[in-house]
Amino acid sequence: AADPSLPALLLAWYDRHARRLPWRTPPGGPAPDPYGVWLSEVMLQQTTVAAVIPYYQRFLARWPTVRDLAAAPLDDVLTEWAGLGYYARARNLHKCAMAVTERHGGVFPDTEEALRDLPGIGAYTAAAVAAIAFGRRATVVDGNVERVMARLFAVEDPLPGSKGELKRLADTLTPDSRCGDYAQAVMDLGATVCTPRSPSCLACPWQAPCAARRSGIAEELPRKDRK
Ligand code: ADE
Repeated sequence: AADPSLPALLLAWYDRHARRLPWRTPPGGPAPDPYGVWLSEVMLQQTTVAAVIPYYQRFLARWPTVRDLAAAPLDDVLTEWAGLGYYARARNLHKCAMAVTERHGGVFPDTEEALRDLPGIGAYTAAAVAAIAFGRRATVVDGNVERVMARLFAVEDPLPGSKGELKRLADTLTPDSRCGDYAQAVMDLGATVCTPRSPSCLACPWQAPCAARRSGIAEELPRKDRK
């Protein structure tokens, strides 16, 4: 098993450095509204945080609950989505809002498994909503998390073949408490410190245990198969 102090080091860093984003509550605070978490996570797939923020705010202002979104005409949702790209995401968003409303009375289910049964919710979104909105122990893996794990454990096998290994490593580190903060902390670490190029290792709470840093190869990881 992984060093039990690793999550604690990251959470202490997150307490000081968490990005304040409109769909978040402060570190250590109450869990945020599942609807806002789900909406933001769907928007954040293949779109940057900076680009998502104004869309997120317009959606919430126009449709404050999942029931409101479900009742909206699809065309209005697509129009409000314009500019975010990948319109299948907007269609799935609306479909999912209708399913939450019709199947669950407008209340998001609180387990990873039940979330996965909703249209348009895959492994990533189900884990993110379960951890962030419901405090469930779930391992959230996106590109940021893969990079952080590849470096922390000096995984030299290239992506995408190493995905399973990186997910397994991420899972061994996931704590039983503060699951939502922890999930967002790994993502923030990848976005602001453990960046693809020129990582800021001196600012990293995991600099001492980081195997790639020790070997001087942090910036080279994760390796990728030639496309
Ligand atoms: N990227 C996707 N989801 C995120 C989140 N909750 N916080 C920061 N970056 C993210």
